[in-house]
Amino acid sequence: MALSLRRHTLTKFFFLLSLFFIARIIFGSSSQNPPSVLEFQEHNVFERVTGTDKSLNVQKYKFMQTRMGRDDREDIFADIIGNGVRDYWERFQAPFITGAETAHTDVQNVLNSIEHLLSLNGWVAAYCPTLVRPFGQNKNEDEDAYDDLAKEDHLYYIGIAIHSADHFLVDQLAVIVQLAKRLGTSNLFVSMLDYESTDSTSTLTDLCEAVLTLLGVPFRIRRVPGMTEDPAAAYYPSEEAYMRNLALEPLVELYSKREIKFHRVIWIKGFTCPNDILETLRVSITNEAAMVCGMDWAESGGHFIFSDRWRTRDIHGDQFRQSTSSSKPDAVPPRDETGAARYVKHLPFQVFCCEAGTHVVDPAQSYYKGIRYRAGEDFHNSSLSEGVPQRAPDAPCLDSTQAWFCRDLWVSKAREGVHENESEDDRQQLRPDAQEKQPLARRQLPPTDPDANAGSDYDAMPDSDQPLDSLPAVRLAVPNSVYQPARILVNPRCVTTYAGVSHTQLALDLFGTGEDDEAQGNTTKYILDDWEGAPESFVCQEQRQTGGRKAAKTQRLLGFSIHEELAAL
Ligand SMILES: *[C@@H]1O[C@H](CO)[C@@H](O)[C@H](O)[C@H]1NC(C)=O
Ligand SMILES: *[C@@H]1O[C@H](CO)[C@@H](O)[C@H](O)[C@H]1NC(C)=O
Ligand SMILES: *[C@@H]1O[C@H](CO)[C@@H](O)[C@H](O)[C@H]1NC(C)=O
Repeated sequence: MALSLRRHTLTKFFFLLSLFFIARIIFGSSSQNPPSVLEFQEHNVFERVTGTDKSLNVQKYKFMQTRMGRDDREDIFADIIGNGVRDYWERFQAPFITGAETAHTDVQNVLNSIEHLLSLNGWVAAYCPTLVRPFGQNKNEDEDAYDDLAKEDHLYYIGIAIHSADHFLVDQLAVIVQLAKRLGTSNLFVSMLDYESTDSTSTLTDLCEAVLTLLGVPFRIRRVPGMTEDPAAAYYPSEEAYMRNLALEPLVELYSKREIKFHRVIWIKGFTCPNDILETLRVSITNEAAMVCGMDWAESGGHFIFSDRWRTRDIHGDQFRQSTSSSKPDAVPPRDETGAARYVKHLPFQVFCCEAGTHVVDPAQSYYKGIRYRAGEDFHNSSLSEGVPQRAPDAPCLDSTQAWFCRDLWVSKAREGVHENESEDDRQQLRPDAQEKQPLARRQLPPTDPDANAGSDYDAMPDSDQPLDSLPAVRLAVPNSVYQPARILVNPRCVTTYAGVSHTQLALDLFGTGEDDEAQGNTTKYILDDWEGAPESFVCQEQRQTGGRKAAKTQRLLGFSIHEELAAL
């Protein structure tokens, strides 16, 4: 068993290696001009194999598959490999591909390669169907489990920002290929942004380029230098925002120049099983959600703990607990009662903000409305002077770009109007003539939870252990609950993991046997009926100064008034 497994892995390895050389043949950039993919295209090989009539037709529109800022530095042995590859191409491949009498076999060869590529499962992804999931999500592994999504024939945009994370990339590619297989190769657009990676990411993006080209999946793979030359002088939230907005650029261009609209944007981070992503898409669509996140789990001393505490807040604005995957129902990650009760039942629950690995965003409720990623600007540049200046207790929160994005989603949704049910008084206050700022009464701080400051965030550095500032939260003149709520959900069945996690054990911890109460029915397992308004305060966890990803974080409780945010627009 172990041997066959190893052999299996080796075969995959050689398969990938050979793909890599194919990539080199096709896209190689050595000075002596190796054969180019154009030679295939001249003979219409791709067209004959994958002929489609879609807006994302890569045969018709060459710009649908682009590479920007390729890393062209010479590798060691580049010339030896280049010579061998060119020799092989010139003597054994080109004559057959271009020869009229052998042309018909090309179609078959390309077809076979595509078949082969579509079965690319990666290392981890191959185990996905064996993992426990609630509601029999994985039991019924037949191909048409998510047929309804495929039949809709919508377009999906996949965003990946890679910052030296080569250990995920092959599996992420496998996940994309599996999604392409289900949803249709010309229903996806893949945007990969290599943000100044210093590991083997640039080689692996060559591999991604080769695979996506052969499969006819539209893409833009782009490598960019960092925003700030010295990483220690960088302000991390701005870098995050910059990276994501660049990864979104094709989405915005396709929309503004060609009116091509995507149904959902899937941000892939870490490792997530393809079925979990498809299910999250379904949760997103049935709830008309602005954003649905998975939950990410990191290994820590033999346990798995919920890790994205920097960017996640429950519907009361509180930080999630750093719970283990096997925690008791009274100590699960979300602290609010409704969220915790639904989490225990493995049902999607509403939050103020989330990111937690792979997440799905509805562009119609966000990017197409002009919302972009942004970050606070009045951070302190510690390369210029020592000591962090004092800021007003209610100064804007200098937190992650995702936290800004969430607040923007809430405010944007609120602009659509008030809740059907709010009182006449509230409506009066919302009239433009009542927009002037009103004095804010004070509210008691909730009792401090000792766990609130305890955790560390695996995305970045441990939080400082400093207690919450004693800034009293406020009672808002116009409660946030009168406005239409942003639909931001966490789907606890969508598990995102990082290196060192035993997926089998994690799945057992989280979902036990996977036998859930069938009485919950088919719709309730996806749909949330009651949506709450935004919290009136939240735990603001901020990086007030430069220092890159690892700059220290401090936290305070900060008020959030949608009424004031709207008035400030
Ligand atoms: C901080 O200051 C240094 C030195 O002037 C500069 O190089 C760097 O870009 C600044 N950082 C940010 C985030 O503006
Ligand atoms: C409005 O209030 C009624 C009665 O309290 C309730 O049944 C209904 O669900 C509410 N609608 C919304 C949108 O909250
Ligand atoms: C759930 O859906 C399946 C198939 O779609 C159906 O057979 C089953 O009866 C449904 N269960 C409930 C409780 O509606």
